[in-house]
Amino acid sequence: MSSLINFYQKLEVDFIRGEGCYLWDESNTRYLDMTSGIGVNNLGFSHVELNGEIHAQIQNYIHLSNLFKNSWSEKLSDKLVEITQLHASFFCNSGTEANETAIKIAKLYAYEKNIENPKIIVMNQGFHGRTLGALSATSNKKYKEKFGQLLDGFIFVDFNCIDQILEVIQQHNVCAILLEPIQGEGGIHIASTLYLKQLRKICDQYKVLLILDEIQCGLARTGYWFYHQKAGIIPDILTLAKGLANGVPIGACLVSQKLNDLLMPGLHGSTFGGNPLACRVALKVLEIIEREELILKNKQKGEYLINQLQSKFTSVEGIKSIRGVGLMVAIELNESIEDISQQLFLQHKILINITQSKIIRLLPSFLITEEDIQYFCDSLYHFIKSKSIKNKELI
Ligand SMILES: Cc1ncc(COP(=O)(O)O)c(C=O)c1O
Repeated sequence: MSSLINFYQKLEVDFIRGEGCYLWDESNTRYLDMTSGIGVNNLGFSHVELNGEIHAQIQNYIHLSNLFKNSWSEKLSDKLVEITQLHASFFCNSGTEANETAIKIAKLYAYEKNIENPKIIVMNQGFHGRTLGALSATSNKKYKEKFGQLLDGFIFVDFNCIDQILEVIQQHNVCAILLEPIQGEGGIHIASTLYLKQLRKICDQYKVLLILDEIQCGLARTGYWFYHQKAGIIPDILTLAKGLANGVPIGACLVSQKLNDLLMPGLHGSTFGGNPLACRVALKVLEIIEREELILKNKQKGEYLINQLQSKFTSVEGIKSIRGVGLMVAIELNESIEDISQQLFLQHKILINITQSKIIRLLPSFLITEEDIQYFCDSLYHFIKSKSIKNKELI
């Protein structure tokens, strides 16, 4: 029995090594990872160049306080500014902290503009993290109900519904709208290009901040550096984390110039945030994505994955929908299949993630090959077929 707090449901396996999109257990059995640590190990496990950066940096130092200039964080910020067309970055250690920063900046904006009783519009099915602020912006009641009064001022609307946004803006003093362009935890729901464009227009018209959380869908996964770029818009604030340093903890909150002018020393901070180790690795991650043309490759692999799934599963009983963009894909089942992750793990040596109890969320590493995709699709097909046959026999 472990002495860890029981916050997670874990599979009983001790992986001892990883390479690319594979993990090996103690008995040297190989597993195909279709989750990449929930969208973190985008460049796979044990990447030689990233390991090289880690080794090089720890020879110098791991941590440097934010009281001193740190050229790795400056270089990383410059690169992020270049690819986002935003103006400045703040680094922290996780997605929830990046969103916490964004919420604080929205509140500061409301304060500076003398907006009374300011509200932030957030989305049903949205997920932004587990700290009290980010949790207040998160929709899933299961995560919130036992924690009493959270931060007030958040108004939930339906995703992709512009009328509800307009209604709230006309009735309240809204200072910001916060959403994921593709909802991950909520089950891979994709904002339409029209919706994103309309949001930008409304935010400009009413002087409301547009905050996009691309913690899960950003950083090349969908075949764009950031999914909102498909709509040709630029948010006022962008939050990132997960794959930014391929597993070395880091979060980022990027802001436009007008917001940067409001931010000054003492308003926010983090001891570990922006440490040279994480920033150096993140910079290399961005360099590899560019050099290896992974944005384009992810788009092509994603199309292959969705085509394979659709051709195999369209007529299979029990599958409600297959949707996604790039390497962010959902297979929604009609009902939850008990222990599906455990069974795929045991029988087919595949790691998957289930969200909202009946949605298989696929976030594979960018290194996945067509053969891996084929193996996954075949295995899932046999598994689901065998399940539906057994269920029929039971009836
Ligand atoms: C869209 C989104 N925002 C925020 C978070 C929170 O990130 P973290 O777990 O690093 O705090 C997550 C994590 O799954 C996420 O998917």
